[in-house]
Amino acid sequence: MHWHILGAGAIGTLWADLLMQAGHSVTLILRQANHSLEQGIQVIDSEKQHRCTPITETPAENSAPIHNLLVTTKAQHTLPALEPLLPRLGASTQVVLLQNGMGQQQAAADRLPTRKLWAATTTAGAWRESPARLHLVSLGQTQIGPWHSEQPQLPEGWDALGIELHGCTEIEQVLWRKLAINCAINPLTALHRCRNGELLSDPQRLQQMQQVCEEVEAVAAALGMSLFDQPLQQQASAVAQSTGNNLSSMLQDIRHGRATEIEQITGFLCDQADILGVDVPLNRNLLQQVRNLNSAKE
Ligand code: PAF
Repeated sequence: MHWHILGAGAIGTLWADLLMQAGHSVTLILRQANHSLEQGIQVIDSEKQHRCTPITETPAENSAPIHNLLVTTKAQHTLPALEPLLPRLGASTQVVLLQNGMGQQQAAADRLPTRKLWAATTTAGAWRESPARLHLVSLGQTQIGPWHSEQPQLPEGWDALGIELHGCTEIEQVLWRKLAINCAINPLTALHRCRNGELLSDPQRLQQMQQVCEEVEAVAAALGMSLFDQPLQQQASAVAQSTGNNLSSMLQDIRHGRATEIEQITGFLCDQADILGVDVPLNRNLLQQVRNLNSAKE
């Protein structure tokens, strides 16, 4: 099968490699042509290196139909990046959204001409030294499920990817769990400019994390959803501990002067809280503080 990938960051590039290793061909859709990718991408893990060579194109370069599309852009770029491709998508195009955050899946579902839409979340880790050099940290676990319930759990062609891939019937719940962890870790690490593990070693940060978690749980409860078998604070602390040395994606965005995914993480939570009439004062406060950091960069 041929897959197009929209969003050639670390995760998009990693998936280009995984899809090619599974026998698919891949086109990376780039904002601007990048000649350094013509010789292929060098993929480096702790034991070995190899090269994968996807085709590259920019949205303006091609008008041929797209049959299979993987979207790995930042959450806030989903609709603007999809818009120029819409004339190339049809009722039978498979689309997979593999991203952080929530809200963009429903927005895409409303806009796309196809019901063959999947949402996914991954714990895979990779970083790009340059557009043509990708370091793989871990393949992690990926959970995927159809946005429209009548579709199969996995998109066609994804059964032989060399990763731990779990097909789910309730992908929205899975996304909520990831969102809850991101609400607990990302804004606080961005505002305190600290590593994930440093949230746990400071009593004031830990107390903020506790309140964020209680508010998130109140929203989930109002939706009739229980998030984890244990309190969110315990689950989020375990993630902060196991990723203790990492800089959260939000702190990395702040450090690089990029817009963060705060609207699709804490912003989505606060919107749901509004609809449900649940009080989330600390999350609202963190949302505003991260917005202020973002606008200070603009
Ligand atoms: O967004 C991130 O950085 C990650 O999802 C998480 C779980 C916070 C770990 O760094």
